[in-house]
Amino acid sequence: MKKNIILEKIMFKTNRFYLKKMQQECAGKTILITGASSGIGEQLAFLLGQVDCRLILVARRTEKLYAMKAEIEGMKAAVEVFSADLRVDRELGSFLDFVHKIGKLDIIISNAGKSIHRPIFQSFGRDHDFTRTMAINYFAPVRLIMSLLPLLKQSGGHIVNVSSINALMTPMPHWAAYQASKSAFDAWFRSAAPELNSNGIAASTVYLPLVRTPMIEPTAAYRTVPAMEAHQAARLIGSILYSKKRTWRPWWLWPVQAASIFVHQLPERRN
Ligand SMILES: NC(=O)c1ccc[n+]([C@@H]2O[C@H](COP(=O)([O-])OP(=O)(O)OC[C@H]3O[C@@H](n4cnc5c(N)ncnc54)[C@H](OP(=O)(O)O)[C@@H]3O)[C@@H](O)[C@H]2O)c1
Repeated sequence: MKKNIILEKIMFKTNRFYLKKMQQECAGKTILITGASSGIGEQLAFLLGQVDCRLILVARRTEKLYAMKAEIEGMKAAVEVFSADLRVDRELGSFLDFVHKIGKLDIIISNAGKSIHRPIFQSFGRDHDFTRTMAINYFAPVRLIMSLLPLLKQSGGHIVNVSSINALMTPMPHWAAYQASKSAFDAWFRSAAPELNSNGIAASTVYLPLVRTPMIEPTAAYRTVPAMEAHQAARLIGSILYSKKRTWRPWWLWPVQAASIFVHQLPERRN
């Protein structure tokens, strides 16, 4: 455990975070966080609660969202919550109507997501592993962003894509559903970014390493490996809101990418 604490300090050193800068940048803004009821999104909602802004929090868990609203409104931000399964057309549609009625949007934190770790040979009869990950990790953010772009264009807004280092690595066994869906949205967003920029909208992607949240709890192997804390990931995203950096990735990613290419080629060479 001690070894992990030292490793985590070295591996997950992030940019310095300045609360004042985030407060200045985000004051008066309307900020949408998808997947705000847990993990990184929840921590970010509380961090932005310290800003005089309007937060729109969306996820499926209604009670959790209302409990958060009550707590955050004791801080500085005003909070709107909306409960929706963003994979379901009708629910996504109602949520988008709700945001359009508000009529002002400055920042989208595209964070809602689902992860699956399962070997292909244990995935027979589980088409939903693939359709559900694509639905929430790819189609939902594409539809949401496409609908809200006019509002962001009006405000000269900013979109932050909460992605994973998986999207930058050689495809890994057991992660087909998750990696394909995160990579699909990464490709879409990278393709859209120049068009967004030329319309006055900033686009940033945060390629996160393993983060200790409910998402990784089902994967036993992750309980003992180094991971970033959810509040660290939230501060990292908070710093992107004022730096508008196009991408963030951990400093150690390139040697891991190189190693992943090598490891990937071993089984391929045997064929
Ligand atoms: N944890 C990691 O190691 C890690 C690493 C790299 C990247 N990421 C990315 O970080 C983001 C946040 O993950 P997390 O670790 O904070 O996970 P988490 O604690 O499981 O939170 C996921 C959030 O997404 C929401 N969500 C899931 N399905 C939804 C749906 N169908 N409709 C609406 N909301 C939905 C959940 O809310 P409800 O359940 O209430 O709907 C929850 O608020 C994800 O995009 C993930 O891919 C995580």
